[in-house]
Amino acid sequence: MNVFLFGPPGSGKGTQAKDLAERLGVPHVATGDIFRKNLRDGTPLGKLAKSYMDAGGLVPDSVTCDIVADRLMQADALGGVLFDGFPRSVPQAEWLLAWFASHGRRADAVVSLEVPEGAILERITGRRTCAQCSATYHVVYNPPGAVCVKCGSTDIVQRRDDTAEVVQKRLDEYAAQTAAVLPVLRSAATVHDIDGTGDIAAVKNRIFAALHL
Ligand code: AP5
Ligand code: MG
Ligand code: ZN
Repeated sequence: MNVFLFGPPGSGKGTQAKDLAERLGVPHVATGDIFRKNLRDGTPLGKLAKSYMDAGGLVPDSVTCDIVADRLMQADALGGVLFDGFPRSVPQAEWLLAWFASHGRRADAVVSLEVPEGAILERITGRRTCAQCSATYHVVYNPPGAVCVKCGSTDIVQRRDDTAEVVQKRLDEYAAQTAAVLPVLRSAATVHDIDGTGDIAAVKNRIFAALHL
């Protein structure tokens, strides 16, 4: 089953992804996490992605689609994946739907998280992220302890692109390029519009109910 977590920066995609992927029995594929891992490992891809990410812009479509194609051919992804942060431009969405068609796969469901912009800024500027496993925390809403509860790492950091200035650019980019992806996905899959406000458990319950999980 191929399911998409869709929504603006800070809407809770990464937070909801872990439990949802586990319940669906598919891997969580987050292009942002893939780029950040490459950045940490100092790969050429990481170096290329860094300049775009630090500026709050999108990594070029051709680079991103190649990475996703590679990931979708790995053994654990053959039965479907939970996408987080992809596709985020109309060309990426059109590429993916064509790729699905030529590989006998299909888009099943989209979870579209709706959160007002004021709440987003507060969520992102308070976010802390595990550098090892990408688990997300929030200084007020989900405070991290000394170690990451998911992997035990003590390496819990603030993302480089979580400054107020870069967040505003990411929100502008979302409005300019990513919002238009939803109608494209809607043409291929069932879209569930989910209220992303309220606490983390309440949002999870809404998602699971919408997907009959
Ligand atoms: P990416 O890593 O995908 O970032 P994003 O889309 O900006 O989304 P975020 O990760 O910021 O937000 P989220 O929705 O996951 O929220 P979270 O759950 O963490 O992309 C980063 C960059 O990589 C892009 O800018 C681009 O440069 C590049 N990139 C990635 N994909 C690309 C692509 N396809 N094409 C081109 N470039 C690409 O939650 C946020 C905070 O809120 C956390 O602190 C969390 O604890 C808290 N929180 C969550 N839910 C709640 C709740 N219900 N109540 C209170 N707090 C909550
Ligand atoms: Mg995320
Ligand atoms: Zn961790």
